[in-house]
Amino acid sequence: MPTQWSEVPQDLRCDLDIVADPALVGDPQGCMLDWLAKEHRALAYTPHNGGHWIVFSHALAHQVLCNARDFGSFPIGVPANYQQRPRLIPLESGPDEHRRYRRLLLPVFNPKVVQTMEHAVRQQARAVLDSTLAKEPLDFLADIAKPIPTRVFAEQMGLETDMLPQFYEWETGFYRAPTAEERMACGENIAAYLQEVVLGHQAQSGGGDIVDLLLAAEVEGERLAPEEVHGIAYLLFLAGIDTVASMLSLTMLQFARNPHQYAALHENPDSIAASIDEFLRLNAFISLNRICERDVELAGVLLRKGDNVVIPSAITSRDPGVFPEPGAFNAERSRTELNQHHAFGAGAHKCIGLHLAKLEVRVVLEEFCRRVKAVSLDPTRQMAGHGGTTMGLDVLPITIERVA
Ligand code: HEM
Repeated sequence: MPTQWSEVPQDLRCDLDIVADPALVGDPQGCMLDWLAKEHRALAYTPHNGGHWIVFSHALAHQVLCNARDFGSFPIGVPANYQQRPRLIPLESGPDEHRRYRRLLLPVFNPKVVQTMEHAVRQQARAVLDSTLAKEPLDFLADIAKPIPTRVFAEQMGLETDMLPQFYEWETGFYRAPTAEERMACGENIAAYLQEVVLGHQAQSGGGDIVDLLLAAEVEGERLAPEEVHGIAYLLFLAGIDTVASMLSLTMLQFARNPHQYAALHENPDSIAASIDEFLRLNAFISLNRICERDVELAGVLLRKGDNVVIPSAITSRDPGVFPEPGAFNAERSRTELNQHHAFGAGAHKCIGLHLAKLEVRVVLEEFCRRVKAVSLDPTRQMAGHGGTTMGLDVLPITIERVA
C-alpha cells in the first residue's frame, strides 16, 4: 500500500502544491525558486495532488532517474490523467520494451539528422519573427514562442499547416483545459488526427518526414508497428511543442529581467550556441515523476510500492552542491561541469529530442538577437503562467527595441 500522509514523519512533511499553488499563476518559476530558497532537505512528502514525494537534491534525483527497475515511468503526470490518452511511447514503457524503442528512435533524432533540419527551422523562425515583431502589443508566448515550434513540428511530421491554429488549441487544451472532459476531448482529437496521419503515410510516403522515418526505421530486422508509430507521434506532439515554447519564453523572461545578459548576446550572437545549456539549466521547467515499482529505500527513507516521486528539474538543476552560485548565469559551466542539469531529465528516458530542442532554441534566439536590440517586460500588462508537471508561461507581454 502506498505511503499515507498520516504515517509521514513530521520532519519529512511539506505543503507544496506543484499544480495549483496560487503563486504559480503569477510567476511559476519565481514560485518554485521561493520554495527552493526555503528548503534544505533532500526529500519530502506533500499531501497535495494525491500525495507524492518531492526530490530536492540533484544526486537523489539522479539516483531515481537512473534506476528504471525500481522507479517506473507509468503513468507520467501529476495528476496523471492517463485514462484520456494512449500510452506514451517510449516514455511510459518498461525497461526492456523501452530499449527496443530507443534503438529504433535514435537514428531519427541523432545529431547528424538534426543538423540537416537547421535550414528549415531557421526559415520558420524568420517567417514568424518577420511577421510579428512589428506587432503591438507583443506577447512573446502567443506570437513567437508557440508558433515557431508548432510550425517546425508540423513540417517535420508532414502535417497540414492550415491545421496550425487547431494544433495550438488541442495541445493547450490537453494540458490546461478547465475540465477533465475538455482535456479528454483534446486528447482524443489529437489521437484521432495522428492516426489518420499514420494511415495516410502508410498509403503514401510523406516525402521523408519523421512519420516516414519512423515507419521505415529498422534495427536488426525489427520495425515499428503502425500503432506504435501512432503512440510515438502522440508523444512527440505533446513533448515537442509546448516544451520548446516554455523554454523559449522562460529564457526571454530571463533576458527581460537581466538586460545586461541580453545586451551581451546581442553584441555577440556567436556566443548563443555555447550558452544554450546554461539557459536550459536556469529555466528548467519540467517536474518529472516516477512510480515506485516496489518498496525501496531512498536517502534512508522507506518509499512504498505505488508511491509517486516528483523531481522538479527547476529545483534539482540549481542544487548548489553541483552548481556553485546556482542562480548566476555562467556559460562556462557547460565546459567545467559537463552540463549536468536536469532540464532534459537523466537516465534511460533522457529527452531523445534534446538535439532538436537545442537547435530550435539556438536558432530562434540567434534570429531574435539579429532583429532586436533590447527587450523588457511591458509594465502595463500582466505576465501569467501555470504550474503542473510542465509549468510555464501563458502570457509574456514584452516591449522591444528593434535594430534600426
Ligand atoms: C526545450 C525543450 C524540451 C525539453 C525541456 C524536454 C524535456 C524532456 C524531459 C525532461 C524528458 C524526460 C521525461 C522523463 O524522464 O520523465 C523528455 C523526454 C522526451 N522528449 Fe523531450 N524535451 C524537449 C523537447 C523535445 C522535442 C523537440 C522532442 C521531439 C520532437 C522531444 C521528445 C521527447 C521524447 C520522445 C521523450 C521520451 C524519451 C524516452 O522515454 O526515452 N522533446 N523531454
